[in-house]
Amino acid sequence: MSHLIAPSVLSADFANIQRDVEMINNSQADWFHVDIMDGMFVPNISFGFPVIKAIKKHAKKPLDVHLMIVEPDRYLQNFKEAGADILTVHIETCTHLHRTIQAIKALGMKAGVAINPHTSVNLLIDIITDIDLVCVMSVNPGFGGQKFIENTYHKISTLTELIKVFKSKALIEIDGGVDMNNYKRLIDTGANVLVAGNTVFSSANPVETIASLKIVGSYAQ
Ligand code: DX5
Ligand code: ZN
Repeated sequence: MSHLIAPSVLSADFANIQRDVEMINNSQADWFHVDIMDGMFVPNISFGFPVIKAIKKHAKKPLDVHLMIVEPDRYLQNFKEAGADILTVHIETCTHLHRTIQAIKALGMKAGVAINPHTSVNLLIDIITDIDLVCVMSVNPGFGGQKFIENTYHKISTLTELIKVFKSKALIEIDGGVDMNNYKRLIDTGANVLVAGNTVFSSANPVETIASLKIVGSYAQ
């Protein structure tokens, strides 16, 4: 499978959200990455259901919704109704992660688990065959435009092995600080989905930038 690109709408222009959604529709992007922040789990607040619904109204590609919120179980149904296709919860917020994953799947969504930079991928051993996606945070969650954490490559390698050993179908998604300099190495190391916010939306031509992020080939160190 060739890798997927998921532009993060956190970096979009919210006063022109339809324009930016159409840009992604008309690009080679695969998913919309939608970041939900509650000001509790992370030190920032993003947006809620009305904005997700507005995005969904125009989006022609799946909504990959990344929950950076405490007690996500309270809102799973709401996120389904708002239009989430893939719903990712943080392992650090879930006391009963297995139950949460089953609830997401029972609602008809793909289930993802996100892990912070300090969280070991080995904590996923007993859940890896139940999930569709692992979101490896390559920055501390809360803000777009942060610097990529280099230890992420090591985590991707360990996770790739884990997925292979347990014959899991989970995709490896990398979220934070993905740019033109690191994306090829991330793919070569085993990443399947790249989230890109700042790199796409701060570029002069976002459609071209997305196309560039789809180009494969060996990276030069
Ligand atoms: C960070 C978010 C990311 C963010 C990525 O907490 O989860 O999805 O939007 O933005 P960039 O690509 O700018 O680091
Ligand atoms: Zn995210």
